[in-house]
Amino acid sequence: MSVHTDIKKITTHTLQEMKRKGEKISMLTAYDYSLAKIIDTAGMDVILVGDSASNVMAGHETTLPITLDQMIYHAASVVRAVHRALVVVDLPFGSYQGNSKEALNSAIRIMKETGAHAVKMEGGREIKEAVERILTAGIPVMGHLGLTPQSIYKFGTYVVRAKEEQEAHRLQEDALLLEDIGCFSIVLEKIPAKLATEVSASLKIPTIGIGAGNGTDGQVLVLHDMLGINKDFNPRFLRRYMNLFEEIQNATEQYIRDVKSKDFPNEKEQY
Ligand code: KIV
Repeated sequence: MSVHTDIKKITTHTLQEMKRKGEKISMLTAYDYSLAKIIDTAGMDVILVGDSASNVMAGHETTLPITLDQMIYHAASVVRAVHRALVVVDLPFGSYQGNSKEALNSAIRIMKETGAHAVKMEGGREIKEAVERILTAGIPVMGHLGLTPQSIYKFGTYVVRAKEEQEAHRLQEDALLLEDIGCFSIVLEKIPAKLATEVSASLKIPTIGIGAGNGTDGQVLVLHDMLGINKDFNPRFLRRYMNLFEEIQNATEQYIRDVKSKDFPNEKEQY
């Protein structure tokens, strides 16, 4: 018998139930086996293999350069570690916007080659056809509205989105459209808390916020930001739970000192 049969896996259905009961949904990103194992063991509900891997893992300035093959590599590593959480994978820039057939092929590759449970896509009405085609194949889709980093060159800046009436209204319509066509959840990124609360109340499917206040059905952060590995990113919405940059730097400096002083390895650390 498998050692994991007693673990109740989180499904898209579980998330709908959590919203119905008013239980908040926790979500963090992960891109590799080791950290995914820790956060799954801690009891995370959803693990997002975000295209923020382009920034935090590869050092790119935006999420645009990461490829489908690279996302598949990260996602497969995460899936190997996870026993409980729902694993959602970002479709990267350029793998779905062009045409719906290409979008379906990209989503199928992710599901087949990684074992993940769902995909996430940025945008509203402009990607409707692609979302519908992927859903038709039985692949669950999480939407993403508000600040959508794959469109950063269109926005020109990472400031809060949908502060103006017209954009707020469009976002509300897009959220209803994504629910209507069958998305199981929607990420709301960097929009006013009041708008995020209203959108969340208007939907049956759960919303997951980042920089969108406390009225969403769940919260997501980028793991490297909340662990303080990435010191240079300091938006108002980010709560840091550790200062790993300094802790790792201190440990590394101590190791260098131990090697240079011939303290490491000692008698007990050799054969
Ligand atoms: O790629 C990512 O990490 C994301 C989250 C910020 C929601 O899309």
